Amino acid sequence: MKLPSYQEARSRKKAAIEREEYHKEKELSHIGEKKTYYVKTYGCQMNEHDSENIKAMLEELGFIESLEMEASDLVILNTCSIRENAHNKAFGMLGRLKHLKEMRPDLIIGLCGCMAQEEGVVDEILHKYRQVDFVFGTHNLHRLPMILKKYMDSGKQEIEVLSVEGNLIEGMPVKRASKYKAYVNIMYGCDKFCTYCIVPYTRGKQRSRKKEDILAEIRSLVADGYQEVTLLGQNVNAYGKDFAEDYRMENLLEDVAKTGIPRVRFMTSHPWDFTDAMIDTIAKYPNIMPAIHLPVQSGSSRILKRMGRRYTKEEYLTLFDKIKEKIPGVSVSTDIIVGFPGETEEDFQDTLDLVEHCQYDNAFTFIFSKRENTAACRLKDDTPLREKEQRLYRLNQVVNRYFLENNQKLVGKVVPVLVDGYNENGKTQLFGYTDTNKLINFDGPDALIGKIISVEVTEAKTWSLDGIIVEPKNH
Ligand code: 5AD
Ligand code: SF4
Repeated sequence: MKLPSYQEARSRKKAAIEREEYHKEKELSHIGEKKTYYVKTYGCQMNEHDSENIKAMLEELGFIESLEMEASDLVILNTCSIRENAHNKAFGMLGRLKHLKEMRPDLIIGLCGCMAQEEGVVDEILHKYRQVDFVFGTHNLHRLPMILKKYMDSGKQEIEVLSVEGNLIEGMPVKRASKYKAYVNIMYGCDKFCTYCIVPYTRGKQRSRKKEDILAEIRSLVADGYQEVTLLGQNVNAYGKDFAEDYRMENLLEDVAKTGIPRVRFMTSHPWDFTDAMIDTIAKYPNIMPAIHLPVQSGSSRILKRMGRRYTKEEYLTLFDKIKEKIPGVSVSTDIIVGFPGETEEDFQDTLDLVEHCQYDNAFTFIFSKRENTAACRLKDDTPLREKEQRLYRLNQVVNRYFLENNQKLVGKVVPVLVDGYNENGKTQLFGYTDTNKLINFDGPDALIGKIISVEVTEAKTWSLDGIIVEPKNH
């Protein structure tokens, strides 16, 4: 058994990170035969992509994916720690699984992801959630086959969580959710330690993947007909800062654009590491999508300082204006936290003021959630929850108004859309995303799924657009 430790997770040792090839254990290839699995994913794209690796590893063991959790032999919860409600959802699901296991004692339950990296969570699992059969963390995803086998052999709860990141594992199998849109990790972990954020503890120190590995993965996606890659990392703009050689995000973006993949996206960007060279590269290559997620978190310089964000309101606005000026038609989205400890009405007004300036295309807004062991969890927080809820409501009123206004500006314009599939309206309406990452619905045949087409925007709503197909004409 190997349990997580916060103290170790915090350390940022200089030790070199080696590149290691994933090794498939051939003798395990039958342990899942005639068994089904179900993976439930919480949280961000990084977790979604980890689940694509988890699924492929399970299928190498002989397991078959089931779409019904209740009917599966193995259930794995890939969890998220970012806010308390993500925690609550996973614990609620463990409650449901407990009942299921009482009825079907052969059911195997595994837990992984960010919650597995938390000392407190694993302690609770050891004492209160005995129905969980095995736990593995974010640093040893590739060990899943061995850990599962150990549990299946012994029947005893198996916990293996590393707090210090190991080598960078390349060549893990992957079962991608889409045949034309792919996630590609470019870096892992984060060294920023924003005071509210648990990620530097659950995902470890920043480690960038080698450019050769990233580009080889993307070239093979291009060869397989993929239309879009999203470069993933907690802080992608800091890509390469852990290398001795001078190869940074702008260089990577340029090399990825040159692979000829029709669409390149990336997330998430920290304003601190966003360079002029990056802006110029995005502006230069038409296949780098003009859609930037630029989390601001707060519009008050005082609160930004307490959050450890390393920029002031004015510095953020300067960067924002430069991006808008240099990248034609760019859409910018953001994340905002209200009710950070010590946030006054005046600080909140600064946030509203910033939003009025930036007029974001999209914004994810949250109430501050206290995360165990982070610096902000020790700050005095005397704003009542009701007031924080009101601030969130007021903020949402403003951001929503701009989503609609920005969408209205697109009415009558023809936009490029990568078609995803049928929407919920049944089998006639398709949906897809524009270059600026806006959801758009339109009528069309399934032959267009996976293609980039031209659509004229006919109507704007707050969270989506409606349109009609312009090209190809004979669909
Ligand atoms: N409370 C509320 N929101 C948080 N986020 C990260 N940590 C917290 C927290 N403790 C938000 C930030 C981040 C997004 C992914 O989640 O806005 O950008
Ligand atoms: Fe968390 Fe993002 Fe800050 Fe890193 S940069 S600590 S992931 S909010």
